[in-house]
Amino acid sequence: MLLPLIVTLIAVAVAIWPIPATMSTGNTVVKLSYNPNITFRSLQEVKPETTTKINRAIERFKINLFTKVFVPDMLQPFGDISKFEPSIVEIEKALTINAVRLVQLNSDLHTVKPVLTENENESYDLRIMDNSTEILITGATSSGILHGLTTLSQLFYTHTWGPPYTKIAPVSITDTPRFLHRGINLDLSRNWFSKEDILRTIDAMAFNKMNRLHLHITDAQSWPLEIPAFPELIKAAYSPTKYYSTQDIQSLLSAAEDRGIQILMETDMPGHSTSIAYSHPELITSANIQPWGDYAAEPPSGTLKLNDSNVEDFVSGLFADFLPRLVHHTQYYHTGGDEVNKKAYEITLGTSDGPTLQPFVERFVQHAHKEVFKHDMQAIVWEEMLLDWNISLAKNTTVQVWQSAANVKRVIQKGQLWEAMTFAKSYHSCYPFADYCSPVKSWRLIYSYDPLANLTIEETKSVIGGEIHLWAEQTDSSNLDRMLWPRASAAAEVLWSGRQDSNGVNRTFLEATPRLHEMRFRMISKSIHAEPIQPLWCAQRPSYMCAL
Ligand SMILES: *[C@@H]1O[C@H](CO)[C@@H](O)[C@H](O)[C@H]1NC(C)=O
Ligand SMILES: *[C@@H]1O[C@H](CO)[C@@H](O)[C@H](O)[C@H]1NC(C)=O
Ligand SMILES: *[C@@H]1O[C@H](CO)[C@@H](O)[C@H](O)[C@H]1NC(C)=O
Ligand SMILES: *[C@@H]1O[C@H](CO)[C@@H](O)[C@H](O)[C@H]1NC(C)=O
Ligand SMILES: *[C@@H]1O[C@H](CO)[C@@H](O)[C@H](O)[C@H]1NC(C)=O
Ligand SMILES: *[C@@H]1O[C@H](CO)[C@@H](O)[C@H](O)[C@H]1NC(C)=O
Ligand SMILES: *[C@@H]1O[C@H](CO)[C@@H](O)[C@H](O)[C@H]1NC(C)=O
Ligand SMILES: *[C@@H]1O[C@H](CO)[C@@H](O)[C@H](O)[C@H]1NC(C)=O
Repeated sequence: MLLPLIVTLIAVAVAIWPIPATMSTGNTVVKLSYNPNITFRSLQEVKPETTTKINRAIERFKINLFTKVFVPDMLQPFGDISKFEPSIVEIEKALTINAVRLVQLNSDLHTVKPVLTENENESYDLRIMDNSTEILITGATSSGILHGLTTLSQLFYTHTWGPPYTKIAPVSITDTPRFLHRGINLDLSRNWFSKEDILRTIDAMAFNKMNRLHLHITDAQSWPLEIPAFPELIKAAYSPTKYYSTQDIQSLLSAAEDRGIQILMETDMPGHSTSIAYSHPELITSANIQPWGDYAAEPPSGTLKLNDSNVEDFVSGLFADFLPRLVHHTQYYHTGGDEVNKKAYEITLGTSDGPTLQPFVERFVQHAHKEVFKHDMQAIVWEEMLLDWNISLAKNTTVQVWQSAANVKRVIQKGQLWEAMTFAKSYHSCYPFADYCSPVKSWRLIYSYDPLANLTIEETKSVIGGEIHLWAEQTDSSNLDRMLWPRASAAAEVLWSGRQDSNGVNRTFLEATPRLHEMRFRMISKSIHAEPIQPLWCAQRPSYMCAL
């Protein structure tokens, strides 16, 4: 049994998720004081908001490390923790770390203006020495510091009888993300999610170093978003309490920002908008007609009218209300644009011919985007606007691809300045289910998806990152966590660390599995109900013993 045991310990020794860009470790035990002196200073002047953000991160770090207890008994063969944990004697002898120094190198840019790549530098450095009672974390910005604290919390285990410890000092990590945009797209229209569900998701995202939460907040089925300028819209909420108030939105934006996450809102249009018909039937054509399959990808059918000044006034009014509340938190607004059904326009425009409808769609999008620009934001659209409808998009528009990896290339080839976002809902197959499909992908499939596959070096520069889509037809509060986690963790690692390692070699399941096991247990200890990825038997053994 000696060999497997050693292999397990080696695997566990670097169980950080997502894996850092560079990391070196030793094999000395050090322990953390129960009340470490965690201090923050910045080499450049920072705003009070930054200090507050860091202080709140420090509080979360302490709660995470000292109360969300993680004794890794499940990672040890035969569940015998004494084979893993340092003995009491070893713990007593170990150096006690009593200070964590956080140093920020640059001030945060408090404007959320383009060019986006200049806005954030999330890199950080982390040093644990075996001869110093201080840990040093240096962050390029506050986001870097937050990521450093997250990594630090993953380096420590709770001891059954003693303080948190690590067995791998000295540790030296220099880390930076591969992609700027590492997101989850949560569909809030098909089923109801409470504010707490979203807050928990934000917390889990931060723990996975993800930084964009795309809220697909309205769709054909429901409109759970309070817009004070149009209070009647929430008639299309599932019940009088199932909607997000302006205060809810504010608290989500702040909670996300505190964790280095931007929330991107999407009110999908002109398709996927029938819910508006509950309060404004005059704005929607082909609302809820049969057979719905001819008029929409999902029931109910219906779409915003085109070439209609009332619709344009509505869009202007909606954005005038909503966007000013977002602009200080994010530079993007997602105007949707997927699956616009041509037949749905037969009634009002007398045609379902694409090229004939094109000028109307063009006019709709130009109007909507002009309004977005007016509020000093940049637009994101789904790929169909560019690839199927040939809309002339401003160069600062981000095109989000969901249909296929091949479309990433097509989007980039249509104009080098567009930024493609990927993680396509590819591999989508209904067979053998004749329902909405269950487009659930295993973490392995997600992990093996390379956002840059088949692109030239030049083309890869246009890919800003990707998102995991949680379309909520078959998900609500009851199964949100296990649908997302740890599947989204697989994407988080591809987007933070890259599909390939620093030698350009694909990362393997064999190497990733034990780390993901551990990450999943850490999420469980933080009350995120991530689903198991293998039998516990496998978690307790070297990963090759469970390799398929
Ligand atoms: C924490 O460390 C700082 C910086 O070294 C020091 O000024 C401060 O007195 C320390 N606080 C405590 C409570 O030890
Ligand atoms: C701690 O060890 C590092 C290298 O291992 C060395 O550079 C440093 O000078 C040592 N510091 C102290 C205070 O002994
Ligand atoms: C981010 O900051 C680090 C540390 O200051 C620096 O080394 C790196 O070049 C910066 N990256 C970018 C893209 O500016
Ligand atoms: C978009 O352009 C392509 C290629 O020119 C054309 O085949 C297609 O019909 C156009 N789509 C629309 C909706 O006009
Ligand atoms: C839209 O409607 C107006 C009349 O309100 C008309 O002049 C115009 O040609 C129509 N078409 C487009 C593409 O705007
Ligand atoms: C994006 O481009 C449009 C069109 O060129 C411009 O009007 C708008 O100001 C730009 N938006 C931002 C935020 O730079
Ligand atoms: C890459 O291109 C090959 C050959 O055209 C194709 O078979 C494969 O599906 C493509 N992969 C992706 C991820 O697009
Ligand atoms: C690396 O993984 C990609 C999919 O992400 C696959 O297409 C490719 O063949 C793999 N390369 C090697 C050398 O295994």
